[in-house]
Amino acid sequence: MTDHGPALSFEQVGMHYPTGTTALDDVTLHVGAGEFVAVVGPSGCGKSTLLRLAAGLLTPTSGTVARSAARLGFVFQDPTLLPWRSVRRNVELAGELRREPAAQRRERAEQALARVGLTGAADQLPRTLSGGMRMRVSLARTLAGQPELMLFDEPFGSLDEITRERLGEELQSLFVADGFAGLLVTHSVAEAVYLAERVVVMADRRIVGEVAVPLPYPREPQVRFWPDFTALTANVTELLRGSSAERTAAVAR
Ligand SMILES: Nc1ncnc2c1ncn2[C@@H]1O[C@H](COP(=O)(O)OP(=O)(O)O)[C@@H](O)[C@H]1O
Ligand SMILES: [Mg+2]
Repeated sequence: MTDHGPALSFEQVGMHYPTGTTALDDVTLHVGAGEFVAVVGPSGCGKSTLLRLAAGLLTPTSGTVARSAARLGFVFQDPTLLPWRSVRRNVELAGELRREPAAQRRERAEQALARVGLTGAADQLPRTLSGGMRMRVSLARTLAGQPELMLFDEPFGSLDEITRERLGEELQSLFVADGFAGLLVTHSVAEAVYLAERVVVMADRRIVGEVAVPLPYPREPQVRFWPDFTALTANVTELLRGSSAERTAAVAR
């Protein structure tokens, strides 16, 4: 899935907010077409800023952000569904905004709902759904736009662990089937290693390390119990700890 030109490139990117906060400093990162990369790091280290720059919602104050992917999907922790619209009509919304013909957007919505296992819930209102189902609707709405690059900002962060793992498995099948590139921000080291080909570790505005995950796709759920998997999560955790230990030492000085 790698070895293509980059879908997204950050070259020495700095982001300084007008309030005086520097959220990113000298970040260089590439995501290949069809490649799935996860970013982990403590809260406040600049992960959401990174995604907003990737989406073009912010302009960097130094360096460059380049995106070759034309169609972009963005999935947030909050599914942000319109409460008065049925599941189907929530999924159709993006197509409406793009002024797709009705028949096409209906068909794409049907397909996307089928792919996340929600065909039977198409006529329900969001309030009648569980948190996991609402997140599936949000995924379906994004998939209906046939994205080449998907950005995820802690998408499963508010869900229980079992739902979260199951959604991770579904997300993996989706990108294995569709071949979209992914940049996933998560707090969960296990989720990052399970899903990504590379885990990028951030701390305090910078990238402090990277762990390649050479496990072939599709990864069965049990991969999480393999010694290789545990060793990889340990590597990521050490990078996270190492950088926080440095920070504590710096504060103590
Ligand atoms: N719109 C904004 N204006 C000013 N400062 C911001 C803004 N968004 C985020 N920040 C600051 O930038 C830093 C990084 O934030 P963020 O990218 O949200 O980190 P994370 O997603 O890793 O928690 C934090 O110090 C945060 O307070
Ligand atoms: Mg964030």
